[in-house]
Amino acid sequence: MANKLWAGRFAKQTDQAAHDFNASIAVDSRMFREDITGSLAHAAMLAKQGIITAEDGAAIERGLRDILAELESGTLAIDMTAEDIHSFIEGELTARIGEAGKRLHTGRSRNDQVATDLRLYLRGQCDELRAEVQAVIAALQHQRDEYPDAIMPGYTHLQRAQPILFAQHLLAYQEMLRRDISRLDDCQQRMNVSPLGSGALAGTGYAIDRAHTAAALGFDGYTASTLDGVSDRDFCMELAAALSIIMVHLSRLCEELILWCSWEFRFVEHDDAYTTGSSMMPQKKNPDLAELIRGKSGRVFGDLTALLTMMKGQPLAYNKDMQEDKPAIFDAVDTVRACLQAAAPMLATMKAKPEHMRRAAAEGFINATDCADYLVARGMPFRTAYKIVGELVAQCIAAGCTFETLPLAQYQAASELFGDDIYAFVALEACVQRRIS
Ligand code: ARG
Repeated sequence: MANKLWAGRFAKQTDQAAHDFNASIAVDSRMFREDITGSLAHAAMLAKQGIITAEDGAAIERGLRDILAELESGTLAIDMTAEDIHSFIEGELTARIGEAGKRLHTGRSRNDQVATDLRLYLRGQCDELRAEVQAVIAALQHQRDEYPDAIMPGYTHLQRAQPILFAQHLLAYQEMLRRDISRLDDCQQRMNVSPLGSGALAGTGYAIDRAHTAAALGFDGYTASTLDGVSDRDFCMELAAALSIIMVHLSRLCEELILWCSWEFRFVEHDDAYTTGSSMMPQKKNPDLAELIRGKSGRVFGDLTALLTMMKGQPLAYNKDMQEDKPAIFDAVDTVRACLQAAAPMLATMKAKPEHMRRAAAEGFINATDCADYLVARGMPFRTAYKIVGELVAQCIAAGCTFETLPLAQYQAASELFGDDIYAFVALEACVQRRIS
């Protein structure tokens, strides 16, 4: 157990099990860069304001830069017995530069420090996640470009409804993912405010320059309320909500891929590199990746629920409950990233089976609406046309034929408005091409 930052008041060491329970280093050590960046900005501001001497400021800067370089290169290992990453870095700095290191925390609390670090870390994650979402959009675009004319049945209630283009179906998912990107933008913009200078909760009496640290860290400004500054975790909840919606979209897409690669559909075939076999059934080729993505959506929704529930009962300002923000939001970020990284190549490499899509589209009377539109174009009210075409569907089912093969005499027995141009009118390609909206 490393020495505590707050040991002064205490006559005894923390109980080992209590220390382990209280510690967060296993989770928050991933923020070491942001912690050091935040401290560099804080120390430079303290020196600029004359709160610490220029020499101490320079010593702190050198010490922190060395620690960062050694952590990056792996020559310095994080001491996992420290309480958290903030304690570890401050302790390491003081061990190296002595007295000056002890001045770093002037006018700062771990409460504003951790809020700053987390905003910096998640701001960077938003950039990465946006690029990963973009890669999935690009994989969908690749499929649209590969199969621009493939016709498939469009569904409502999972019943064949109207003929559509495969490309049109994929566009729907691209639109969802584009909204996801704009949600990440919004969320990143709102989180980009500096809480540094809030202190423990009440602010500080030192003549700090909050605008200076905010600008040095690339924030758009600083929080107005110091109490809210240390205890706001909206940015975690908001990001977890945006990530949950991404998972809803990926899960729906994966559900379709799972259906489509079944032998009942056979609309797509996944690349061997992105499927798995069965230990018992030699014929199997399973869409495990798609199923796992669908399954992991539950985990991300769980992270969002954990954050909402963790926050809802807390009085102002900081409470230790908030240390639970990191396991939840980090898990959500990691899980969504892993899912996006699995989805992109799986989507890019799958092969569509336009012939099977077309066969399914030809079977379900999905051109019935068009058949009714034919009569409407010749002056019949839509409701009357609807009824006549419904009767024709029943006749076709009884006779084992489709609108493409129903004899003209039978069409004309239902309405004399039918001519032999009906066959061209109900051709699937013609139906798809007529849709202009
Ligand atoms: N490890 C803590 C966290 O993640 C840092 C803040 C601790 N502050 C405190 N007053 N105990 O939230």
